Amino acid sequence: MRVSGAKIKTLISSAEIDRRILGLAKEISAQYGEEKPLLVGVLKGSVFFLSDLARALGDGYPIDFLAVSSYDGTESRGSVKINMDLASDIRGRHVLIVEDIVDTGMTLSALLDMLRTREPASLRVVTLLFKPQAYKGDHPIEFIGFSIPSDFVVGYGMDLDEDFRNLPYVGIVESL
Ligand code: IMP
Ligand code: MG
Repeated sequence: MRVSGAKIKTLISSAEIDRRILGLAKEISAQYGEEKPLLVGVLKGSVFFLSDLARALGDGYPIDFLAVSSYDGTESRGSVKINMDLASDIRGRHVLIVEDIVDTGMTLSALLDMLRTREPASLRVVTLLFKPQAYKGDHPIEFIGFSIPSDFVVGYGMDLDEDFRNLPYVGIVESL
């Protein structure tokens, strides 16, 4: 499919995403029971996933956001900068980080180290996409939507220099 001149190959359709999110919501509610966690969306990529996941989970899951910078074009950077912090105090609370994609895990590792110093009751991660061959982190990823090859993907929140975020599916950019 061509999107603003670029050729995008569908990797995960919108229907597959919807179906998997219902499955993830079941796994998450089974894990936490009545101790519903604060959903922490990592801006900006996770907004689409978080809003669909939160609706699949139903009432009782508060949401908050933070923003970190990690990516410049298609190259990963080893450290993160907090551009916008949480509005909530997470001390003593169950926290579930909501990520669009975990690639090397460098961003996530730095983020988890920072959040651990605030002493949440628990800290877990749900990511829509996981690249197992690229992952270098030591934290287990508790909830994974799809494991994918190490190709650069776009859509459903993920961008290439701010393009393609609004696609309702996940695709691979074949040519620009
Ligand atoms: P990591 O630190 O390598 O795990 O990558 C962190 C961030 O880079 C993710 O949260 C995304 O925002 C971005 N990223 C990693 N891989 C991709 C990709 O394939 N497409 C778009 N963004 C990506
Ligand atoms: Mg991200």
